[in-house]
Amino acid sequence: MNPARGRFIVVDGIEGAGKSTQLDTLRARLEAAGLGVVCTREPGGTPLGEELRELLLRPRAGGIAGDTELLLMFAARAEHIAQVIEPALARGDWVLCDRFTDASYAYQGGGRGLGFDRVVQLEEFVQRALRPDLVLLYDLPPETGLARAGRRGAADRFEQEEYEFHARVRLAYINRAAAAPARYRVLDAAAPLAEVSAATLAAIDAFLAEHRPGQGPVTADAAAP
Ligand code: TMP
Repeated sequence: MNPARGRFIVVDGIEGAGKSTQLDTLRARLEAAGLGVVCTREPGGTPLGEELRELLLRPRAGGIAGDTELLLMFAARAEHIAQVIEPALARGDWVLCDRFTDASYAYQGGGRGLGFDRVVQLEEFVQRALRPDLVLLYDLPPETGLARAGRRGAADRFEQEEYEFHARVRLAYINRAAAAPARYRVLDAAAPLAEVSAATLAAIDAFLAEHRPGQGPVTADAAAP
């Protein structure tokens, strides 16, 4: 175990939750605390991952089978972990990731109705011991999120899904957060932006107080053989 290992922080939530804006807030706070920060996203974060993202998000006639979609998400994730996330954590940088495996539980397990067993299996296979140290879950009603996402331009393959799909996604996120409250902070993303940003800063400051390098508990080294 390496005491200088970085921390792995994920922001997640349904469409239109404002995660990207909050990522900027988080990055600025961590950098101000003197930490090296790697900001990345899923699906994506590597050249291959970004190609897979394009395949996954582009609307296509006939759709994609649920298992294929799940496997492509985890293929992108395997590449991302090997090329970006593990090397960053190992050198002591903190990783800020826009979505991670909670999105597979929520979108494929919940939204697509695949259930959670396959996601558990792939999580263990692809990630070994790697889990986020903190997940900030931006929660809001799907109708509000979809209206916001709709103002951003052409809808991608997930944004085009019906309301019920997004309601299942939201429920899966909320249930995961409720089952592991130590790892999750649920933030009200329907609140005015200034309030969401203030809540984000409060959450990261509390985490920093506990987990500054060399102080709080250290994440298990997932890359250890
Ligand atoms: P976004 O992060 O820019 O919103 O786009 C990524 C989309 O991919 C979003 O609709 C959620 C979806 N997604 C999954 O369905 N499963 C996953 O595991 C991940 C990481 C994302």
